[in-house]
Amino acid sequence: MATLQLDLAERSYPIYIDSHLLKAGELLTKHIRAKRVCVVTNDVVSQLYLSSVKELLSDFQVDEIILPDGEAEKSLHNFEKIMSHLLANTHGRDTTLIALGGGVIGDITGFAAACYQRGIDFIQIPTTLLSQVDSSVGGKTAVNHPLGKNMIGAFYQPKAVLIDINSLATLPAREFSAGMAEVIKYGILGDREFFYWLEQHTDAIKASESSVLIEMIERCCQCKADIVSQDETEAGCRALLNLGHTFGHAIEAEQGYGNWLHGEAVATGMVLAAKLSVALNLLEASELRRIESLLAAFDLPLEAPETMDFHSFIKHMRRDKKNIGGKLRLIIPNTIGQAVMRDDISEDMLQQIL
Ligand code: NAD
Ligand code: GLY
Repeated sequence: MATLQLDLAERSYPIYIDSHLLKAGELLTKHIRAKRVCVVTNDVVSQLYLSSVKELLSDFQVDEIILPDGEAEKSLHNFEKIMSHLLANTHGRDTTLIALGGGVIGDITGFAAACYQRGIDFIQIPTTLLSQVDSSVGGKTAVNHPLGKNMIGAFYQPKAVLIDINSLATLPAREFSAGMAEVIKYGILGDREFFYWLEQHTDAIKASESSVLIEMIERCCQCKADIVSQDETEAGCRALLNLGHTFGHAIEAEQGYGNWLHGEAVATGMVLAAKLSVALNLLEASELRRIESLLAAFDLPLEAPETMDFHSFIKHMRRDKKNIGGKLRLIIPNTIGQAVMRDDISEDMLQQIL
């Protein structure tokens, strides 16, 4: 088993990564401080893993909330549903919420934990690759608003993250690929050697070799933990984790959430950021081709939708949360293994790329 620690003083927590973790009860129960827990999950994941999690919790009083599946369910409506359920069932400040599912469930459960009675404990059990390498770690919690994705939320850290790679066995291939975009992101933004490792282990990853998946997820979580422990609230280096996301969010918003998966949009967004870097004479054209090849090896899209032009991108990019004082701020790879934030990219330059 790999165990990492996200260091944030009194809010530090462990990240456990292994196969069969959903059979290892004490790793979960030692982070629950009283007798009551409430598992929040959705109607897809509950059928696959809820009974295993409940078995681990046989000594506890277990309540459950099963939301409908889908990004549209990361809503204020469901947030209120969770609050009402907790209140109606007289949960107190000593209840622990357990988020069992992908990033949608992790984000809404974390936000509910941050708000219920001004903050209760929560534990992440992420079951998609994307949530295992990204959303379950680092404490960004949120719900969507009709006017914008993730616009209502809080930084609120879990007490522990349990990553069971066996849960990936039931994940649809397209969702696995979407998670690979976030994996490749870590290589491009900060770890050249990891990018090469991914190139060398493509077949083993596709074959779901356990030791390779554990190492891959561990390296991603370590990279994220290092960044978050330096900059929990994205005042500085945490923004690098948004490589590809400014273009990607524009694609998701324009195409309608769910039509392009988040990871697919990030993959195309990283190609656009890399093309911008080539135009700025930073990234070598050969490095752009390597990035495209690795993304393509995991069946990720490289081209923006044909229906999107400069104007359809820019209207969304101007609303990005990273922008300050009306200036666009973009993450650009200088080379494979090093990205920077730039606020000096002109809209003319963007128009050439888009
Ligand atoms: P998701 O939670 O919608 O899960 C994708 C699909 O896989 C869903 O249909 C889900 O029911 C299903 N599923 C989950 N686990 C499964 C399993 N083991 N087997 C079979 N099916 C399974 O999507 P996601 O990609 O995990 O997360 C995307 C969300 O995460 C977005 O809302 C995004 O904004 C958020 N996110 C948050 C952060 C953060 O730092 N908090 C980072 C990245 C993304
Ligand atoms: N997914 C980006 C972040 O956690 O900062």
